[in-house]
Amino acid sequence: MKKMTDPKNNIQIFSDPQHMVEAAAEHFYHSAVSAHHRSGCFSVALSGGSTPRALHRRFCEKPYILNIPWKSTHLFWVDERMVPYDHPESNFGVAKKDFIDKLSLPPGHVHPMPISENPDTVVAHYQLQLKTYFEKQNRSEPVFDFILLGIGTDGHIASLFPENPFSDTSNQWVITAKGGDPRVWRMTLNYEILNSAKEILFLISGVGKASVVKSMFENSSKKLPVHRIRPLNGKITYLLDREAASHINFSGKRYPPKKRK
Ligand code: 6PG
Repeated sequence: MKKMTDPKNNIQIFSDPQHMVEAAAEHFYHSAVSAHHRSGCFSVALSGGSTPRALHRRFCEKPYILNIPWKSTHLFWVDERMVPYDHPESNFGVAKKDFIDKLSLPPGHVHPMPISENPDTVVAHYQLQLKTYFEKQNRSEPVFDFILLGIGTDGHIASLFPENPFSDTSNQWVITAKGGDPRVWRMTLNYEILNSAKEILFLISGVGKASVVKSMFENSSKKLPVHRIRPLNGKITYLLDREAASHINFSGKRYPPKKRK
């Protein structure tokens, strides 16, 4: 596998997108197995966007369809766009079609963010779902076993956009924001919940993300939402393709993007 690593920052860079998907599936699998052994449950918060879709599809194939302890897995979302679930831009709708419908998760294990024309009315509903689930795990606040994150070219993560300066110490686990593409109302987990996770995996691809990726690993004067992801006690790993990594400076060396033919 053509892969370059930077162990100090937990970065892995792949020249082949399929290898990046495989590495993401392996991370998910190991996290699921250890959570299952530890507590009998594996809590996940998924991101939307296009990057995770190949991973979704990989979940439905061997060995992951068989080896991931799906019956212990609870799926939540880091964010949702306020569009109907059957809309092509619905984060839950896309994941449902890509893999959830193909697995037999026990009833009550899939926790989509509710949608409404007035998102504030459904925030309390999702907070309650989180409270109910995590109280059963003896936690007064959500601590996800695994959170999958992507980033936008503007440095947003989940639906936390640069133009919405939310506090990371807010006592609201779930908040609403308008932004992104499509520019619709969204519901999103707040920074504090993201940073409390036991494991965060970033999956980032494409040259469009190269500048923001560079800013994540070099002292940047910009303060973007992605810069606020600093796990309190958890582990963080960045899986990047060579285009997304092409502006990072590793001790004077850049990871070369593939030459265009
Ligand atoms: C969303 C997201 C968002 C996403 C990034 C990357 O619902 O929009 O959860 O934070 O992860 O925008 O999206 P792409 O994978 O499409 O580049």
